[in-house]
Amino acid sequence: MNIPFAYGKIVEDTDFTDRTDETAHLMGNFLSLTNTAIISPRRWGKSSLVAKAIKATQVEQKDILFVRMNVFKCDNPQEFYSLFAKKILEDISSSSEALLANAKEFIARLFPKLTIGDPLSQYELSLGVDLRNDPIGEDILDLPQQIATKKRKKVVVCIDEFQQIGEFRDTLKFQKTLRTHWQDHSDVAYILYGSKKHMMLHIFGEYNSPFYRFGDMMFLPKIANEEWREFVVERFKETGKSITPDLAGYLAEQVENHPYYVQQLAQYTWLRTTDICSETIINQALQAMLDSLNLQFVNLMDTLTEKQRSFLCAVSEGVKNLSATATLQRYQLGTSGHIRILKDALTKRDLIDVTGKEIEIQDPLFKRWILQEYNKM
Ligand SMILES: Nc1ncnc2c1ncn2[C@@H]1O[C@H](COP(=O)(O)OP(=O)(O)OP(=O)(O)O)[C@@H](O)[C@H]1O
Ligand SMILES: [Mg+2]
Repeated sequence: MNIPFAYGKIVEDTDFTDRTDETAHLMGNFLSLTNTAIISPRRWGKSSLVAKAIKATQVEQKDILFVRMNVFKCDNPQEFYSLFAKKILEDISSSSEALLANAKEFIARLFPKLTIGDPLSQYELSLGVDLRNDPIGEDILDLPQQIATKKRKKVVVCIDEFQQIGEFRDTLKFQKTLRTHWQDHSDVAYILYGSKKHMMLHIFGEYNSPFYRFGDMMFLPKIANEEWREFVVERFKETGKSITPDLAGYLAEQVENHPYYVQQLAQYTWLRTTDICSETIINQALQAMLDSLNLQFVNLMDTLTEKQRSFLCAVSEGVKNLSATATLQRYQLGTSGHIRILKDALTKRDLIDVTGKEIEIQDPLFKRWILQEYNKM
């Protein structure tokens, strides 16, 4: 029997729930070629949402070419350009013959010195070998528009883990280069998303950043408890087990409706359930999850300073006024001036989210773990 819950990968079809509004919104952006940055904390479902919206669009719209790439492994502009070229060619080509023809047509024109041989393996090899002496330049960034013009289609380029470009040595210069090229592309939309929220906000939200006002900023919300109830109940039912809507709601609540963790907890719970789920089973499953994360959280805490750890404890315990004298004393946070420094440092690490006066621990299980384990140390 297939396990009816999935986590740690892009989820599709029956594993994917809700996101009706967001899917429609994103599909609208594809059609209108609106550049989009998708922002959310880790594992809320950005990659899955993009995959879903692409699939749904492809059913109806044959005149949009989609390109998907993940730039997580790129360390410099060269690697970015190279992957960009490769992925575009792969994704617009329906066969290896078509790929070769497209490579000859588009890449050879941009980079005449590049030898493009037969068969496909040779093409990749020659692209790789030649790159060392004759690197791909920024002109490759115009490839999507050239393809769109030539093929008379729209092109949507989706780039996952986009924040990685923030790690490049001359990142601002590179960002300016990207923006300069991309803003002139009238038949192409760029959908940019990534797992590091802080870095993504830095790239798209700061006034002086080249990507400021690049397009639509989509802030992905969590999936509502109501949706999770239905989803979990249904998936239990389909596999011959049962859970009440209330317990399914309770399950999702334990992990604050966090998509990845709801799926994980549901799976742990499902595996422990013979026929009918109970609250005890959910609690045991949750504890098993916390146990499996223990070492990771201990190690994470080890990388923080004493004050940062205390700050996280205070936030986990729901303390609101962190600068109050009593709080500063109780948690030994130093002076109120330290609070801003602590906030900045922990935001940069994507451990907390600050919205106005509200501070939240990004990872609901980390918060639970702090409350359960760390305070005792
Ligand atoms: N719409 C959804 N329905 C059901 N589960 C979902 C949905 N979206 C996300 N999930 C759950 O969350 C997990 C993470 O999803 P995904 O990888 O799409 O998120 P992400 O925001 O791209 O993550 P990261 O920040 O690590 O890049 C999935 O494996 C799945 O368990
Ligand atoms: Mg992702």
